[in-house]
Amino acid sequence: MQQTLVAKRILLGISGGIAAYKSADLVRRLKERGAQVRVILTGAAQQFITPLTLQAVSGNPVSTSMLDPAAEAAMGHIELAKWADLIVVAPASADIIAKLAHGMASDLLTTCVLASAAPVAVAPAMNQQMYNNIATQTNLATLKKHKFHIYGPGAGEQACGDVGYGRMLEPLELVTLIEQSIERPATATSRLTGLRFTITAGPTREALDPVRYLSNHSSGKMGFALAAAAAAMGADVTLISGPVQLATPAGVKRTDVISAQQMHEAALKAAVNSDIFIGCAAVADYRAAEVATSKLKKGSSEQLQLNLIKNPDIIAAVAGLTKQRPFTVGFAAETNDVLSYARKKLTSKKLDMICANDVSQPDAGFNSDQNAVTLLWQGGEQTLALQSKAALAESLITLISKQFSNKSTTSEANK
Ligand code: C5P
Repeated sequence: MQQTLVAKRILLGISGGIAAYKSADLVRRLKERGAQVRVILTGAAQQFITPLTLQAVSGNPVSTSMLDPAAEAAMGHIELAKWADLIVVAPASADIIAKLAHGMASDLLTTCVLASAAPVAVAPAMNQQMYNNIATQTNLATLKKHKFHIYGPGAGEQACGDVGYGRMLEPLELVTLIEQSIERPATATSRLTGLRFTITAGPTREALDPVRYLSNHSSGKMGFALAAAAAAMGADVTLISGPVQLATPAGVKRTDVISAQQMHEAALKAAVNSDIFIGCAAVADYRAAEVATSKLKKGSSEQLQLNLIKNPDIIAAVAGLTKQRPFTVGFAAETNDVLSYARKKLTSKKLDMICANDVSQPDAGFNSDQNAVTLLWQGGEQTLALQSKAALAESLITLISKQFSNKSTTSEANK
């Protein structure tokens, strides 16, 4: 086990939510990597997990109240706040997020956060409707503005049976993000401040008649994860999305479109005011030559011929701009000869970088929460192994912005 967190002091706040059962495992994983962990349990958290469990796994007394004289005598709340190198609230309920966003100090956990100079991370965990609620999204945007790290949430089936965003990330995913927060404190969240991204995501839908359309299996998850990662690093992000079932990541400006032609128009408009354009959308290559104005009727013939015409190639149009051309990054979703097709597209579409994505793998690509890709550019490539789309997006945004600044520096020097 790599000792990535030796002597790092992590104060873990656990708030009330079913994901609290995973927090004991998180403590173990942090300790395995050398961290010292102290735990605060809110009142509601104690309905889900006991102080005794967390005391056993952390090897330290667990704090539950500010009004407990014995605990205050052992390590008072101000001491605890000062002790931490990083405060992580996992799971972070909608309630604790609201309290933190408003600077409340109504219990031990919120008081410690307010009294600490350490960076703070929250791992939201709640029902998808509560997560999507404008109040929660506004509170998360406030926390982001206040330089909190936001870990996740992930999407999928929830304890209540709903499906969507709001699941707490898995302990090992949280550990990776904690390692990154500790490695790059304070300024990390504003690394990309001033950089403008436009990102396209999701499928497009090409109408055949008022009730039918042609489309594909893209879920939009990868593009949304990229937008979330860039915004979390302080960038100004415009997300142009086809029809998807995803919540807008905090701090991201979103334009919804349906068809490739609409995406083309929106993308070109945004691209000329961007530094970096990432085309992650699975744009339909063809659309119906004529869209029927009323529902097509089933005829007597066994066959139906559809007459299709080519859609504009959005990313090629952006990369071909002669004025205000952004650094342009494409995606190549392929099922075979992935790297060689991607290299061809890099050249034929005149892209700066391309992300080759093998979508034949059952556990990666379309609709999955995980992905593995190879990023290619003239003179280089880097493979990123199978991991969550959130973690992958962070690495991709880092690599893309690095390559962008190398290119800007070289072209400045050649002027
Ligand atoms: O569909 P294809 O494999 O050519 O997609 C490669 C890249 O081109 C992707 O980044 C995709 O978003 C983009 N694309 C586009 N407009 C199209 C087709 C693809 O922007 N009409």
